[in-house]
Amino acid sequence: MRQENDRQTGPDRCLVSRRGFLLSSAAALATMTVLLRVPGLAQAQPARLVRYPRKKIGTLSGLAVDQPVAFAYPDDGAHAQSLLVRLGVPAGGGIGPQQDVVAFNSVCTHQGGPLGASYKPATKTLGACVFHLSTFDLTRHGILVSGQAYQSLPQVLLELHGDDIHAVGMMGLIFGRHDNLQS
Ligand code: FES
Repeated sequence: MRQENDRQTGPDRCLVSRRGFLLSSAAALATMTVLLRVPGLAQAQPARLVRYPRKKIGTLSGLAVDQPVAFAYPDDGAHAQSLLVRLGVPAGGGIGPQQDVVAFNSVCTHQGGPLGASYKPATKTLGACVFHLSTFDLTRHGILVSGQAYQSLPQVLLELHGDDIHAVGMMGLIFGRHDNLQS
């Protein structure tokens, strides 16, 4: 608890904790649901809750620091390539005792360049993209730090159950898709 408070008030306060993200998402959904029920504001359209698959993608004990593991999520379709990595430093949305285990889609958000083999341990970044050199910071929710892209890498939301790591959702739109669950 203290660690999370420190992260929210310290120099990394721009990080959104996973709990904070989920709470704000729930609040937004609740607000939208109320608005949809106000007569005249909408034609009583029921809000659709997106449900991502839960998928085991690895184990905490099997992850070595700075050794990414490839997986596909939320399906095996186009542009689902993703990386699970233990950074060795706390990260936004990170899980585990050090909050350092994160996962991201590894297709560049600019024009779909492959990023799967471009992890840089020294800077905890993915990139530079072989197409136009975009680089993304994995400690700060995949935010762009240089290059031609203008969107962060989609972050895979993780949960830890015992030693098992599960992918349970995504934050951000996968390149080439109009809906992350289109397939
Ligand atoms: S496709 Fe990656 S920077 Fe353009």
